[in-house]
Amino acid sequence: MASKRQIRLGVSMIGLGYHLAGWRHPDAPAGGNMELPHFIRVTQAAERGLFDMAFLADGVGIRFHDEPAGALARTSKNVQFEPLTLLSALAMVTKNVGLVATASTTYNEPYHVARKFASLDHISGGRAGWNVVTSVTDMEAQNFNRDKAPGYDLRYDRAAEFVEVVRGLWESWEDDAFIRDKARGLNYDPSKLHVLNHQGQHFQVRGPLNVARTPQGMPVIVQAGASEQGRELAAATADVVYAAAQTLEDAQAYYADVKDRMAKYGRERDHLKIMPGLMAIPGHTRQEAQDRYEVLQELVQPLVGLGALSNYLGDLSAYPLDGPVPAPVNRRMHSRAQIFLDIAARGNLTIRQLYLSVAGGNGHRTVIGTPADIVDAMEEWFTQDAADGFNILPPWLPGGLEDVVEMVVPEMQRRGLFRTAYEGPTLREILGLPYPTHRRAAIAAALGSAAQ
Ligand SMILES: Cc1cc2nc3c(=O)[nH]c(=O)nc-3n(C[C@H](O)[C@H](O)[C@H](O)COP(=O)(O)O)c2cc1C
Repeated sequence: MASKRQIRLGVSMIGLGYHLAGWRHPDAPAGGNMELPHFIRVTQAAERGLFDMAFLADGVGIRFHDEPAGALARTSKNVQFEPLTLLSALAMVTKNVGLVATASTTYNEPYHVARKFASLDHISGGRAGWNVVTSVTDMEAQNFNRDKAPGYDLRYDRAAEFVEVVRGLWESWEDDAFIRDKARGLNYDPSKLHVLNHQGQHFQVRGPLNVARTPQGMPVIVQAGASEQGRELAAATADVVYAAAQTLEDAQAYYADVKDRMAKYGRERDHLKIMPGLMAIPGHTRQEAQDRYEVLQELVQPLVGLGALSNYLGDLSAYPLDGPVPAPVNRRMHSRAQIFLDIAARGNLTIRQLYLSVAGGNGHRTVIGTPADIVDAMEEWFTQDAADGFNILPPWLPGGLEDVVEMVVPEMQRRGLFRTAYEGPTLREILGLPYPTHRRAAIAAALGSAAQ
C-alpha cells in the first residue's frame, strides 16, 4: 500500500536535556544523566510517541573548554554513559523505537565499531543505528595519544574508508549463511561467507566479522557534519542526516545540496532522510509555552552563556556583555560557528543576547508555542524540501519530551503527518528504507549465473 510521505521523528536524549540550564529545571532529576531509570523513562516516552529513534550524541571525553574559567562546573553535560552500553540496556525495555549511538571514526577501529553495532542490532531485534562522527575537538585527541585533532581532510578521508570497511564487514555473512543442520553436522554454508581482505590507505582489515548478518541487513547509518567533507560522506553512505539550520532558506539549501550529491553514488534521494534538530517547547497557550521557556532562560548564568559561545567563537569575556558580538577569537567548529555568527548578524545581537538565544537550541531551530504553532513550523519545512523529519531536542528531560509526546504528536497525527502505529519491527522499516542488498552476494550470484 503506497502511503503518504510522513514526518520522521528522533529525540536527542543527551543527559538532562539540550538547554544549557536544563539540569537546573525544578523537575529534572539532578543526577539522572548517570542513572539508568532516567533513560528508561525517556526512551519509553519516545516509544509511546511512536518516534522513529532515540539518539545519543557523544564525545570521547569532555568536549567543552572551561572558558571562561568556572563555566564548565556550572553545566551538566560533562558526564554521560557510553552510548552502546546504555542502548543495549534500553533495548531490553523497549520494543520498537530505533536506538542510535554516536561512535567516532577517528578514535576507533572499524572492526570494533562493526562488531558492536551488529551486536546491538541483534540484541534489539533490528533497531540499531550508528551516528558517524569524526570528533572535532583537541580535548578528545588528548585522550588518544595526540595533542590536536587531525585536520578536516584527514579526519573525513579516514571516515569515508572507515565506513566502507564497516559496511564490508557487515556483509561478511549472507542472510541465509547459517543452516545449523544438526543432523548433517554443518553449521554454515562456506560459500555464503565473504572475507573482506580490505587493504586501504588507513586500514588493513581481513575480516570476516564474527557476528552474523543483522536483522535489518545492516544497522542504519546516521551522519552529523555540515562541512563540504561531511556532506559528501552523508550523500555517499548515510541513511539519515542530523543537521542544524535556523532558517527555511538555509535548510532548503542544505537539503538540496546533500540530496543532489547522491546521484553520483547511484542512490535515490528518498533513501536519505534529512532531519534537522528542532527544539520544540509546546504549551496549551502561547503564553504557557513562553513561560516554560523563561523558566530555563532565567537560569542561564553569564559565565555559562559565555562558555557556550566559547565552544565555537572562542573566549569573548574580554568584551562587554552588552556590546556587539565581535569577530571570533578562536573559531572552533566551522559550520556551527557560522550559524552563531549569522544569528548575531540577523538580530544585531549583543553578546548576552546571542548566548541567551542559543542557550536552548545551541544553533538549532527553536519553536515555542501551541502544538498547532509547532506543527505548522514542522509542516512548512517538511513540505518545502527543507526536512524529511526532525530530531527533537527537548530543553530538559524527561518532561520536555513528554510534553512533545502528549501535545505535539497528536496534532501531527490529526493532520496525517505522522504515523499512528509503527510500520515494522526494524528501524529501516520504520524509516521507510529498503532492506540493503548484500553486495558481495549479488556479485557472487551475477558471476555464478554468467558462468552457467
Ligand atoms: C547536528 C550535528 C550533530 C553532531 N553531533 C556530534 C556528536 O554527537 N559527537 C561528535 O563528536 N560530533 C558531532 N558533530 C560534529 C561533527 O561530527 C563534525 O565533527 C563537526 O560538525 C565539524 O564538522 P562539520 O563542519 O562537517 O560540521 C555533530 C555535528 C552536527 C552538525
